[in-house]
Amino acid sequence: MIIEKEEILPGIFRFEFKASEEFLREAEPGRFVQIEVSSEPFPVTRRPFTISKCSYNSLVIIFEVVGRGTEILAEVDEGQSLRMLGPLGHGYTLNSGKWLLIGGGLGAAGFPGLAASIDCRLMVLGAATKDKLLTFPGIETIAITEDGSSGRKGLVTDPLKTVQWDSFSNIALCGPIAMMRAVIESMPVESRKITQVSAEARMGCGWGACEGCSIPGADGGYLKCCTDGPVLPAEAVDWDMWEGIL
Ligand code: FES
Repeated sequence: MIIEKEEILPGIFRFEFKASEEFLREAEPGRFVQIEVSSEPFPVTRRPFTISKCSYNSLVIIFEVVGRGTEILAEVDEGQSLRMLGPLGHGYTLNSGKWLLIGGGLGAAGFPGLAASIDCRLMVLGAATKDKLLTFPGIETIAITEDGSSGRKGLVTDPLKTVQWDSFSNIALCGPIAMMRAVIESMPVESRKITQVSAEARMGCGWGACEGCSIPGADGGYLKCCTDGPVLPAEAVDWDMWEGIL
């Protein structure tokens, strides 16, 4: 059941759902849920949403209205219930040491829960405009927008030029593929080895059956975002092929 609904930015919603103790025990940062947005025949498949954060009795998702499925979801009101499958997939490996979190647009949606579970020292968050820029109070953040409407003007890779990469033991990265690839290329090789990416792909089933979420792996095979990921070591992905097939 939705216990709180808020449009936090134009077309970007925050839903808080009541959740069971059993569900929350399994809901590690980086895992996701599949939500049946409508009981009607269309949309046919459930939609995947990163778990943004959890409390003792609830979970939060943040999503943008980008198509019919999310349009229908945005119309659901507080007090209504939705069918939800999860938590699914593999989340972040919560290593000790200092963390740097890098997010592009809605890619940062899963960071609140992650930041609460680790030693997060810095977030670098970028978006096209301030209307798409997620920010989270209480964590040192460098915000950047392409049009300069909030934070610095430029791309996420710009402030990374001055980041002390070797002061971080762990890096989390999530956002559009081109952005993630540009970030990885701007990193020292040693930092790539400690980077975990949250891969976004079209999910059909969410549990490994349809293969709709396959992305190219660095070893020549394919990885299923829903069961191998969505959080994967950056070095497990073939970035050239992944960007090329989109
Ligand atoms: S979503 Fe069906 S196999 Fe991954």
